[in-house]
Amino acid sequence: MNLPPEQLPVPGERSVRTVRRLRDEVGPIAPVKLPGGVPAWLVTGYDAITGVLAGDDVLYSKDARNFTALHDGRIPADWPMRQVIEGEHLLIKDGADHRRLRGLVSRAFTPARVQELAPRVQVLAEDLLDGLLAEGDGADLVRCYTGPLPIIVICELFGVPPAERAGIRAWTQVLVSHDATPADAARAGAALLAYLAEHVERRRSDPADDLTTGLIRVQDADGDRLSADELRWILWSVIVAGHETTMHLIANAVVALCADRDQLDRVRERGDWAAAVEEALRARNSVVNTVPRYPLRDVRIAGVRVGAGEAVVVGFGASGTDPARYGPQAERFDVERRAQPHLGFGRGTHFCLGAPLARLEARIALSTLFTRVPKLRLAVPEEELLYTSSIITEGPRVLPVLLT
Ligand code: HEM
Repeated sequence: MNLPPEQLPVPGERSVRTVRRLRDEVGPIAPVKLPGGVPAWLVTGYDAITGVLAGDDVLYSKDARNFTALHDGRIPADWPMRQVIEGEHLLIKDGADHRRLRGLVSRAFTPARVQELAPRVQVLAEDLLDGLLAEGDGADLVRCYTGPLPIIVICELFGVPPAERAGIRAWTQVLVSHDATPADAARAGAALLAYLAEHVERRRSDPADDLTTGLIRVQDADGDRLSADELRWILWSVIVAGHETTMHLIANAVVALCADRDQLDRVRERGDWAAAVEEALRARNSVVNTVPRYPLRDVRIAGVRVGAGEAVVVGFGASGTDPARYGPQAERFDVERRAQPHLGFGRGTHFCLGAPLARLEARIALSTLFTRVPKLRLAVPEEELLYTSSIITEGPRVLPVLLT
């Protein structure tokens, strides 16, 4: 392939548009440069992505020790993305190690366990909505509603006190943004890990009815199975992967429903908010790209040769609107498509651990919002909305709404 690699992010273009444009203009796989000029392959076609995901643990590793350029001096030691791709967290573990850690934490996120959280999530949504209504027309839905809900839910689950949640939110934002300076990224990464270590220690001496305490008990019961460091990184994975993604998905769904009142009416008449959530996961997903995978030997993706140890980024944000899979109307948000599966939460070995929780939060957030504020609409034209600066997740920075 002889095209010059596109440097991500493309100035003035939303990341989700970039991955979809590259899919349509270049094909299912394209050479790109990650922030900092680091070469990678971006996979954007639905079939090509399913092929890559099917190769997890066999053809592909997520462990950055298999990323050649990271270790041979081509990538500087202070490259900001190292904070995310070099940790010890679930997203970048392989094989038996991955299965063991995932097994320990996934028990907390089964559909049945998550369903028990529904009444509490409903109360939180109602409370936040009271605040939004008190602000009146022009209130920012991201600040008042879609932003706080997932962070409160995840922090309550792990017993993080209210006063400490703003720090978690700020550090995470820096970690997933593509324009953080190396110093900022390093500071945010270190601060989050130091905070989590302190939180674990606090719960060790002052146990509570939360998941942090639950994981400490697992650790105490069988110290060899879960090290203190692993425990800290489990919290890291769930907190970082679990709130930015959900807040942006809810906001993206609100934008889509406000843009097409027929769709909104259909969902409301049937009370089928789950259909709106699934359609948002397909066509307006918040995860644009994920951390790279590294081929363990030379592979071919959609006919293109990719060398062992190169970086392969899965462009999930392009998978759901691939016309080759979803037809010529693939971009259209259409709640009738529900029966069609999507890759919004990935597939296979690394399938999103928090999918039941994200689905629950999004369903409750949308149903509560549009039921209590039936006339809700955007206060500015959709084209004027500004989006977050991350090549990993994307959603509106600010979402001013009219309530009456
Ligand atoms: C709408 C919200 C969400 C979306 C769209 C989303 C999407 C994804 C995707 C696409 C992956 C697969 C990444 C890959 O294969 O490279 C993933 C993995 C993951 N997600 Fe989510 N996610 C969401 C919410 C959550 C929540 C709420 C949590 C935690 C409670 C969570 C925790 C995780 C974890 C820990 C992984 C790594 C799993 C593994 O590697 O085994 N996510 N997510």
